[in-house]
Amino acid sequence: MRILSGIQPSGIPHIGNYFGMMQPAIRMQDEGNEAFLFIADYHALTTSPDPKELRERVLNVAIDFLACGLDPEKTVFYRQSDLPQVCELTWILNCITTVGLLERAHSYKDKIAKGFIPNNGLFSYPVLMAADILLYKANLVPVGKDQKQHLEITRDIAIRFNNIYGNIFVVPEEKIQESVAVIPGTDGQKMSKSYNNTIPIFGQEKAIRKTVMNVVTDCKGLEEPKDPSNCNVVALYRLFATEAQVSEMEAKYRAGNYGYGHAKQALFEILWERFAPFRKRREELAKDPGYVEQILKSGREKAVVIADKTLKEVRQAVGL
Ligand code: ADP
Ligand code: TRP
Repeated sequence: MRILSGIQPSGIPHIGNYFGMMQPAIRMQDEGNEAFLFIADYHALTTSPDPKELRERVLNVAIDFLACGLDPEKTVFYRQSDLPQVCELTWILNCITTVGLLERAHSYKDKIAKGFIPNNGLFSYPVLMAADILLYKANLVPVGKDQKQHLEITRDIAIRFNNIYGNIFVVPEEKIQESVAVIPGTDGQKMSKSYNNTIPIFGQEKAIRKTVMNVVTDCKGLEEPKDPSNCNVVALYRLFATEAQVSEMEAKYRAGNYGYGHAKQALFEILWERFAPFRKRREELAKDPGYVEQILKSGREKAVVIADKTLKEVRQAVGL
């Protein structure tokens, strides 16, 4: 199987990214799939980031992903904009994509509602994403649930292209793990870099502890029994804990005399411990940005062979 996924360098990777996409992708890499992972910096341009900040974020996201277990020996790891072939494919796909299909995209409407400028890049974001996937003929795309519709659009575009021009593209499937499909943020909404509600994977101990302590709960007092099925802290704890540890916390909730502060402390500790080995690796990688840059460069060298081959077939098929 060929798997492929991307992450935008639009902020600091958080535990929603980790459980929703990074960990599943790394597992699939380790199970012997042919893996392509990339940093979607063209996509990040749709929300007009500061240029210097964008460049720094690309490097930091690369370091985070490697620290979490992306193995560049097994995975082709690259920066999207190092392969501008994807833009040519985007244009060609744009010409068979109806405006109606894109008008149905939730993510566009959500971003506009949040005050982002309705530029054409934001509108045609799903076409660039389709090009990312189709260029490499990926079979499976590990993502969180918020990307489901983008995969449906990708399939629509692939099928339409194949119908018009012949069977060139693989029609891909998304791979969404139900248990981690939507990780809640500190405010209970979906955790997202653009909602200011994230718990980062990496950071200073004090800052992460503070973030965890700010997870929103109801305002029941210490002694009162609490409902674990309806609590963000328990939902987040579940990501890190064993079944037995979760049951223990649930029992304490129901019994009373166990405050949200206690639960948050337990959450912080288990989270901090879980990422300890990654933090160590991250420290090493951060000392050597040249090495990280080298990995992305060598990823590009491998990716370009496939990108050029697909693009040649596409150009031939459409009459260019
Ligand atoms: P963000 O919404 O924070 O900007 P991205 O759009 O860069 O994150 O997402 C990168 C990957 O992480 C995608 O596959 C996305 O589905 C996944 N992801 C992001 N947030 C969550 C979440 N809260 N729960 C599960 N998966 C998530
Ligand atoms: N749109 C994805 C997100 O915001 C990032 C992305 C861009 C992507 N291209 C992709 C994910 C291709 C999977 C495959 O999370």
